[in-house]
Amino acid sequence: MSTQTQIRRKSVTQILGAKGGTPLVVLTAYTAPIARLLDPHCDILLVGDSLGMVVYGMESTVGVTTEMMIAHGRAVVRSSAQSMVVVDLPFGTYQESPEQAFRTAARVMAETGCTAVKLEGGAEMAETVAFLTRRGVPVMGHVGLLPQSVNTQGGYGARGKTDADYAKILDDSRAIAEAGAFSMVVEGTVEALARQITEAVAIPTIGIGGSPACDGQVLVVDDMIGLFAGFTPKFVRRYAEIGKDIDAAAAAYAADVRERRFPGPEHLFGTKRPAAPEKKAS
Ligand code: KIV
Repeated sequence: MSTQTQIRRKSVTQILGAKGGTPLVVLTAYTAPIARLLDPHCDILLVGDSLGMVVYGMESTVGVTTEMMIAHGRAVVRSSAQSMVVVDLPFGTYQESPEQAFRTAARVMAETGCTAVKLEGGAEMAETVAFLTRRGVPVMGHVGLLPQSVNTQGGYGARGKTDADYAKILDDSRAIAEAGAFSMVVEGTVEALARQITEAVAIPTIGIGGSPACDGQVLVVDDMIGLFAGFTPKFVRRYAEIGKDIDAAAAAYAADVRERRFPGPEHLFGTKRPAAPEKKAS
């Protein structure tokens, strides 16, 4: 019989049960070492397609591929034990039809071992969410600011500022919840809207630039630890300055190498020369 430690991850039922209770802790993770560090503290690790920007230096998430999500999803699943792992479906791999979405989601789940997938969109994606959930794919929705739609939404500005936009996003969130999503990211909306969505839907809402009233909060880990050098959105709180620590470490290493202070004797494999081999008598 196998003596392997049983992995006990947060389940869909446990996440659903968090509605209205202690807020869910969600962070993005893309790599093994970060997943290992975050796992004990989180309910959900999200392998977000934000990796296109923060890991690969892309301008937006639009160019992220399924292969990238699978490679990073695998690393995160392998290196975590108790958090639920959710993997983003990338742009263009699910919007065409529910069948296309199912094929992508089934591949991502089979090849990474993740529990659920996330997809962006409102009422127009409700049929797809229902199709997936009825076929064994747990879906996390994502409403409000939709980074994959940056080209049609006209940028990363906050959503819900006009009455029409506010009402549309509220309808979107209801449609996604009623279609069977088990939770939903509410990104970059006016605070009152994220609060009202949280009251309106029966599933946990996970805010990012949303509201403290949401049932959970998510941040991009590189923003949270000060590693992403680009723009820091208003909704980010920095809990560490890892970027500055890496800069200082690299500067100290460079100085030590140039001044021959590194490597020291403690880093070397013995400084004695082996005895010279005896010469054969001719
Ligand atoms: O891709 C991502 O990291 C996300 C979060 C910002 C919610 O979707």
